[in-house]
Amino acid sequence: MRVETPPSLTTDQFSRLARIVHDDSGIVLTEAKRGLLMARLNRRLRALGLAEYGAYCALLNSPGGASERRHMLSAVTTNVTAFFRESHHFDALTRQVLPPLIEAARKGRRVRLWSAACSSGEEPYSMAISVLECFPDAARYDLLILATDIDPVMVAKAQAGVFPETSVQGLAPAKLSTHFTRTGTSYEAGAPLRSIMRFAELNLHHEWPFSGQFDVIFCRNVVIYFDGDARRLLWQRFAAQLHAGGHLFIGHSERLDGPASATFRLAGPTHYVNTAPSPAGQSV
Ligand SMILES: C[S@@+](CC[C@H](N)C(=O)[O-])C[C@H]1O[C@@H](n2cnc3c(N)ncnc32)[C@H](O)[C@@H]1O
Repeated sequence: MRVETPPSLTTDQFSRLARIVHDDSGIVLTEAKRGLLMARLNRRLRALGLAEYGAYCALLNSPGGASERRHMLSAVTTNVTAFFRESHHFDALTRQVLPPLIEAARKGRRVRLWSAACSSGEEPYSMAISVLECFPDAARYDLLILATDIDPVMVAKAQAGVFPETSVQGLAPAKLSTHFTRTGTSYEAGAPLRSIMRFAELNLHHEWPFSGQFDVIFCRNVVIYFDGDARRLLWQRFAAQLHAGGHLFIGHSERLDGPASATFRLAGPTHYVNTAPSPAGQSV
């Protein structure tokens, strides 16, 4: 039997790939991640029938390289997530954040929530469950949850709304039976959840297609992969994208720093309120 040696990534090739990943996504890959990158990309090289990384670098830099760059990002991103992860955020959402927004929605105001790095969807579906539990007729009003991610594979999963048993294990049985239908070993999100959700591919480091503002942004467990400049710029962009009094939730090991920290007031653990006056007034 012939045993094929997997291609290996030289220091120079690693630096070239890490630079592309950083330019495209803001994600920093340190030298310590070389083995991980290789393990993930070797599968990609096999799928493309490429024997070594020199050819892969050439493909990424070729005129058709943009689509392969998206595949590479998909391979390097970490998509770990869970329903009601950091449950205190959902307690704050239910108790403090949603009541005035529901009142506003009932009076006809547009209300928008954004899960800005939604991975396979557990986070935005947890937001939607929280909304429906306080506001069962939400779909009759102008309230939407936008779920976006850089990784098209994750966005497709989130949009499909079908979760394996391992993913729903942490959900309270009452939530599971109310909001999901079991099909074999999978659980499918019900129509009421889907009716208040929208999905799209979005790179946080690119232009955002929004003309209005959000009331709530969840951007959790993603800036830990970014460098300081990319992270601080993102906080400033969130401040501009939130209504005055809008809420920003970030991951437990993340911190709000740079110029935007003067704009946000701490409202709870890794939960911030925008104190800047709203430039536009209208929601997204
Ligand atoms: C660890 S998951 C976090 C998921 C969820 N927010 C949570 O806390 O459970 C990080 C997600 O960030 C996404 N991501 C990484 N870089 C991004 C970027 N530049 N723009 C948008 N999403 C990005 C990844 O694709 C991945 O799905």
